[in-house]
Amino acid sequence: MKRISILGSTGSIGKNALRVIAANPNRFSVEYLTAGHNADLLIEQALNFQPKTIAIADKKQVAAVQQSLKPYHIEVLDGKQGINEIAAKQDVDLVLNAIVGSAGLEPSYHALQAGNDIALSNKESLVMAGELINRLLKEKNLKLYPVDSEHSAVWQCIAGEKPENIRRIILTGSGGPFRSYPVEQFDQITPAQALKHPTWSMGRKITIDSATLMNKGLEIIEAYWLFHLPPEQMDILIHPQSIIHSMVEFIDGSIKAQLGLPDMKLPIQYALSYPDRLPVSWENTDFASIGTLTFEAPDFAKFPSIQLAYDALKRGGTAPAILNVVNEWAVYAFLEHKIKFTDIPRFVEEALSTLPIKDIPKLADILKAEQAGREFVENKLLK
Ligand SMILES: NC(=O)c1ccc[n+]([C@@H]2O[C@H](COP(=O)([O-])OP(=O)(O)OC[C@H]3O[C@@H](n4cnc5c(N)ncnc54)[C@H](OP(=O)(O)O)[C@@H]3O)[C@@H](O)[C@H]2O)c1
Repeated sequence: MKRISILGSTGSIGKNALRVIAANPNRFSVEYLTAGHNADLLIEQALNFQPKTIAIADKKQVAAVQQSLKPYHIEVLDGKQGINEIAAKQDVDLVLNAIVGSAGLEPSYHALQAGNDIALSNKESLVMAGELINRLLKEKNLKLYPVDSEHSAVWQCIAGEKPENIRRIILTGSGGPFRSYPVEQFDQITPAQALKHPTWSMGRKITIDSATLMNKGLEIIEAYWLFHLPPEQMDILIHPQSIIHSMVEFIDGSIKAQLGLPDMKLPIQYALSYPDRLPVSWENTDFASIGTLTFEAPDFAKFPSIQLAYDALKRGGTAPAILNVVNEWAVYAFLEHKIKFTDIPRFVEEALSTLPIKDIPKLADILKAEQAGREFVENKLLK
């Protein structure tokens, strides 16, 4: 029985993780759960899965959650501190971090500090603090399993291969809803249009990141810290059907790909069950009905976020943290109709050229960069 903590259980990944666990009651037990604001769903999950302790970030909701769970002896913690405390609980075998955005960084850090292996969906942790996380993994001899479908695909493709035999990795992406949309109309794109992802059903922030293609940029940085290849050996390929989840090319020209329907339950389950594979009851991939798989090069001019991410990765230090946090708060501003779609990469570019960047950052430097990035967006909104 693998004992699991789920941070961000009320989100898209968290709910899918609980579906995987519910389908495998003899393999996994849910020890801890955390949420941001969704008290009703957290209560429902706690009643279904009977964790020891749960936490909710939104302190205003804690009294109601405690009241509902009082008869069931489920402890309820609150705020950032409560979530960090749960991340650091040591009576688990794996912590799944499915929190969205920069709020996931500290829980990842606390989980690793406490000696917990992590299944990481919160790519922002690695984007912001890849060096620090890698150091902790090495010092404490811990494992970090990727949940992002592209990185799960690469991980599956390189199994049993020597690192020196890898020529490049190819991260695939659907291209988002605006792949064929005229660039002259990008200024008029609305949140409702941008939230209509062609192939994946995901949370709001990552769906907007997929529309700007910043998601691919974040994934390149994530892949750098997971697979330790230079940016020149990591390519992006647009594949609108989202059946090939990524590929690895080897020095002899051979290419391995991992394929499947676009369903996050698969990479979540692989990260939870690794090194085992578990049988599933969901739909099989029917190639005859899919018919065609197509590919095209990403359009760097139309989607400037990709280049911004490559540049931030090459610059290093706190540059990726600034890229990440300014993008995140710009995405929320766009969702609230405060800025245009095209302002998102514009804000990121401006922040990267004006905010100070610290080399070889410690956690405190990254948190300071996070604060600076957030204030940068707030100041832009005041103008
Ligand atoms: N969704 C996908 O298919 C997918 C695929 C690949 C990678 N990812 C990555 O997985 C992560 C989660 O994505 P998602 O789509 O599942 O996001 P989501 O649906 O928005 O869920 C996010 C989770 O984080 C919680 N949360 C939000 N703000 C928080 C805060 N300040 N403190 C603590 N918890 C907070 C939310 O709680 P409440 O809902 O209770 O507020 C929710 O449980 C992201 O890093 C994303 O890039 C997602």
